[in-house]
Amino acid sequence: MYCLLCNIVAYYSNFVVNKINSDENFQVPYKAKPTPLAHADWQYVNKRCLDDYKAKDWEVLDHQRKQYYDEQMVDQILRMLTCQKDDPGYVYTVNNYLHCLQTATRMLRDERPEEDVVVGLFHDVGFITCNETHGEFAATLLRPYISERNYWMLIRHAVFQQYHFHELEGCNRHERDKWKGHPYFAWTAEFVDKYDQTTINYDDEILPIEAFEPMVRRFFAKQPHRITYE
Ligand SMILES: [Fe+2]
Ligand SMILES: [Fe+2]
Repeated sequence: MYCLLCNIVAYYSNFVVNKINSDENFQVPYKAKPTPLAHADWQYVNKRCLDDYKAKDWEVLDHQRKQYYDEQMVDQILRMLTCQKDDPGYVYTVNNYLHCLQTATRMLRDERPEEDVVVGLFHDVGFITCNETHGEFAATLLRPYISERNYWMLIRHAVFQQYHFHELEGCNRHERDKWKGHPYFAWTAEFVDKYDQTTINYDDEILPIEAFEPMVRRFFAKQPHRITYE
């Protein structure tokens, strides 16, 4: 039986497949190559699944992974910020990258402890990619290296920021009050007041990322806390 809708769908599917196949940047199926290893003297363990790994394979993995993490982790974390360097903004005269740098700059100028400065630098690292949960994102990223005080602050800083949203319809400026009396309430309010809601101007002092890199490396060189889950 002739079905017009089926014919339209078939025509469109063919059109899409032909378009994909004619695009030289998109070959079907995708042919992957082995990812180069970080060091020429390292070896692959080329097994189909982890079920097939034997004791000697785990030995290779453990050895190479430890060195790999030591060499790559901080670079990759820094890249999570620096990849935003040239991004356009949406209303402020600084983009998210410059906001993070300005927060850290102001904390450094106020001679805050190094942990606080690094927390300030990364507090909004996920602001664009996971806006709704960006506090948790930063808190989780930094958690093995920070105090409970900063972990608590990072998770809730966006709610505390609402206190500074004047004349914003529908916003409960006092939502933070549900945590009144908590030992970290004052620190979170202070962070947002001094270092977050006020760091949105391009003509305030902003130190370059290089100014913070040595402290970021020291920060992540600490022995991480062990995190356990219930
Ligand atoms: Fe934030
Ligand atoms: Fe922020």
